[in-house]
Amino acid sequence: MGLASFFESKGDKGIVIFAGKGGLGKTTCSAGLSHYMSQKRGRKVLCFSTDPQASLSDIFDRDIFGKGIVQIEPKLDVVEIDADKRVSDYQNEVKQKILTMYGLQELPPEIEEYIDSTSAEPAMYESATYDAMADLVATSHHDLYVFDMPPFGHGVRMIAMAEILSKWVGKITEAREKAQEYEAVAATLKGGKVSEDEVLRELNDIQSKITRFTDLMVDQKRTSFFMVLIPERMAILDTERALEMFDSLGLQMAGLIVNQIYPAEMRNAQGEAAAFLRNRARMQEKYLDEIKSKFGSKVVAMLPMYPKEPRGLDMISRVSEDLMHGPGL
Ligand SMILES: Nc1ncnc2c1ncn2[C@@H]1O[C@H](COP(=O)(O)OP(=O)(O)OP(=O)(O)O)[C@@H](O)[C@H]1O
Ligand SMILES: [Mg+2]
Repeated sequence: MGLASFFESKGDKGIVIFAGKGGLGKTTCSAGLSHYMSQKRGRKVLCFSTDPQASLSDIFDRDIFGKGIVQIEPKLDVVEIDADKRVSDYQNEVKQKILTMYGLQELPPEIEEYIDSTSAEPAMYESATYDAMADLVATSHHDLYVFDMPPFGHGVRMIAMAEILSKWVGKITEAREKAQEYEAVAATLKGGKVSEDEVLRELNDIQSKITRFTDLMVDQKRTSFFMVLIPERMAILDTERALEMFDSLGLQMAGLIVNQIYPAEMRNAQGEAAAFLRNRARMQEKYLDEIKSKFGSKVVAMLPMYPKEPRGLDMISRVSEDLMHGPGL
């Protein structure tokens, strides 16, 4: 059992995405897999996240947030994108372009307000994020890309993002139409004519970035989705929903990873003080049975609850062994 056999048959190049509800172990699994593939399989790995909590900095015990590609171990690079900054850089770029194109000293307040408000939209944030991912995959020349999904949005939803992103492009086009009203004024003032092509090129560019990203995500030869859950009710329900969503999109979930499993001995812990532990362990046992009957064949790895939070290379190395070669259900 473990993920090793999955990658033996699938090959260990491409993109791996760990998705799932917040706080169940996506970052832990991303670090574990990245470590294993780079140190034990000799692959050139890039582990990537946009989590504003800087969780990769935390688990690798290095300050890498917003610092570009940082080498952690031989063949293991890590990037933690500051997506907020990427969004604001992008907004400034758009503002500057409008100023230059229309020869204005300052932006009309409606346009400025509109551009600023886009940062509150998930589509803006996500398009900046996905754009960064697609850029890295296209240019960084690694064998394996491990995407550690941020806590919100939970990762599965993102494969259905194309539609939302297209809407966002629609809004830009709308803004473009608004801007055209100003264009007429500006062009008259300058006595010149503003070229349409620049703006249209921009829109086409955004559209092709969206397509580039979604093409990557649904390319099942290249991209494997794993979902991390724990033996608890809400996580099981969430996993069922995610599997249904995958089905409806005609995609396959590569596998499930059950995390934070208490040691089996705990189910029979003796003594008064042990009653709590015993109950917790038996509750997990019940949910493990449910996981087995509901998703049995999909479970590819099981991770124990560690005595301390996995952090630093020693612990990551232990996680990676359990993830790749651990026991089955
Ligand atoms: N098997 C485990 N044993 C002990 N602690 C664990 C285990 N797995 C995860 N943790 C701890 O639980 C917390 C959440 O794990 P992790 O950060 O990997 O989850 P996540 O899914 O990435 O969360 P988020 O959705 O916030 O990004 C972390 O503090 C982590 O160290
Ligand atoms: Mg995380």
